[in-house]
Amino acid sequence: MGESAVFLKGERIDLVVKNIEHIQTYHKWVNDAVVRTYISVELPVTLEVIKKEWFPDEIEEKSVWLEIWHKEDQLPIGMIGFFQISNIHRRAEIGIFIGEPEYWGKGIGPEAINLMLDYGFNTLNYRKIIASVNAPNTRSLGMCKKAGFIEEGRQKEMDFIDGKWTDIILIAIFKKDRKGE
Ligand SMILES: CC(C)(COP(=O)(O)OP(=O)(O)OC[C@H]1O[C@@H](n2cnc3c(N)ncnc32)[C@H](O)[C@@H]1OP(=O)(O)O)[C@@H](O)C(=O)NCCC(=O)NCCS
Repeated sequence: MGESAVFLKGERIDLVVKNIEHIQTYHKWVNDAVVRTYISVELPVTLEVIKKEWFPDEIEEKSVWLEIWHKEDQLPIGMIGFFQISNIHRRAEIGIFIGEPEYWGKGIGPEAINLMLDYGFNTLNYRKIIASVNAPNTRSLGMCKKAGFIEEGRQKEMDFIDGKWTDIILIAIFKKDRKGE
């Protein structure tokens, strides 16, 4: 699959600009029953919606999403981004999913998170980056805590996932607390 413009360079992955030619792959990811469990996709997503929302005619400044490109395998494997961006309060929420489950558990998520935190703090000048993680999503929570996120709160029984009510854990990291800052 054709590589897009590299935006942030990593070791095993690069974070590249979204590519309309990969839209069928994006469509597969967000509709996949395993992948969509913890990313708040409960209803089918059409190609048209992805085209409209992921490739708007005008550049909007409330979010910035990049594709995770696996360098050795030359494949797009997921997405990572900031949304709910506030330039006044210098903060944003971070979201990530690896759309190909065979790439889970190999440390790719942590590499992508670290690239994005560097970008958020050192280029976009954010002061605080937040995330919301479903309590049963121990892999995501473990990854974020390892990257330096700290729990700030818990919303009780917010979501109904796989037949169970689940809490949402609110986590955050400040620039000043980032390793090496
Ligand atoms: C969440 C996700 C991005 C994590 O990326 P990943 O590459 O699979 O992450 P890894 O499993 O390599 O784990 C990262 C770290 O989290 C920790 N971790 C992993 N599984 C864990 C678990 N079950 N419990 C506690 N900590 C765990 C480990 O510290 C691990 O680092 P280490 O193995 O180097 O010690 C990815 O699995 C994914 O896209 N899942 C589906 C969508 C999703 O849940 N997105 C997040 C929504 S908030």
